[in-house]
Amino acid sequence: MAQQLSFEVMNLSLPFGDESRDPDHKRRVQGGVCTTDVVVSAYMGDNAEVFPKILALHVPRGAEIADVTYGLGVFWRKVSPKDYKPIASDLKTGVDCRNLPYEDASLDCVVLDPPYMEGLYRRENGHLAGSGSHGAFRTAYSNGEETTTGPKWHDAVLDMYFKAGTEACRVLRERGVLIVKCQDEVSANTQRLTHVEIINYYAKLGFYAKDLFVVVRPNSPCVTRLKKQVHARKNHSYFLVFVKTSSPRSASSHPSQNREQVSRKRRLQRP
Ligand SMILES: C[S@@+](CC[C@H](N)C(=O)[O-])C[C@H]1O[C@@H](n2cnc3c(N)ncnc32)[C@H](O)[C@@H]1O
Repeated sequence: MAQQLSFEVMNLSLPFGDESRDPDHKRRVQGGVCTTDVVVSAYMGDNAEVFPKILALHVPRGAEIADVTYGLGVFWRKVSPKDYKPIASDLKTGVDCRNLPYEDASLDCVVLDPPYMEGLYRRENGHLAGSGSHGAFRTAYSNGEETTTGPKWHDAVLDMYFKAGTEACRVLRERGVLIVKCQDEVSANTQRLTHVEIINYYAKLGFYAKDLFVVVRPNSPCVTRLKKQVHARKNHSYFLVFVKTSSPRSASSHPSQNREQVSRKRRLQRP
């Protein structure tokens, strides 16, 4: 209940953003209730459990949400259709998330969860991850087809996130929300922090990384043919929450930094 109340209050003042970014934001007044009933940043569980919490915190009920890599619709299994109804699309239904059939600045929220590992972007179908008895994995996590053009290996994963993020930026309204699912990976024996690479690139598009959620798998990952372990086996993934702003920024710049820089400059310019 407390969580619901604070969400409604946030909506009244600034539907899609972060109050620290609101130029008219007044000084914080002490108040509210003491509660442990809050959305937290890390959960052990699955996507279907975490996704509704992210919507409740960051997206007003009734918003126009396009899930552009809808897949099996797992994210939506525990979302009440009374609160949110997704506009679902996927390459499997003929819509490429890099070329969406929506007008510029027409949506409140975009959800993006493309194939997240380089094994799902191979040039030959027989080399794609999830062969034989793991065929269900391939069907759930990709469209099951080989990638014929563009960069290879981990760079193919990034290319998809970068192009789809650019397209999401086009169709989102100012202060619209982009929810991105991703997982880091070790590719060619090299640690690739996909979530950092995405945050840095999206910052250049004007996306403010407003929140980050870690989802930890409840079961232990199984490794076959392990000789010597070099990197920690990944058992976590991320939901990143971005807000579209009109000003490209560096990922490290804090939203309040620009205002602070401007007022410092003004102080220095005073006679
Ligand atoms: C990780 S799964 C998404 C799972 C989904 N979030 C769910 O809840 O079931 C990745 C999905 O991206 C789709 N996909 C792959 N390339 C795509 C593209 N270029 N445009 C749109 N969808 C794509 C695949 O068909 C697959 O359904």
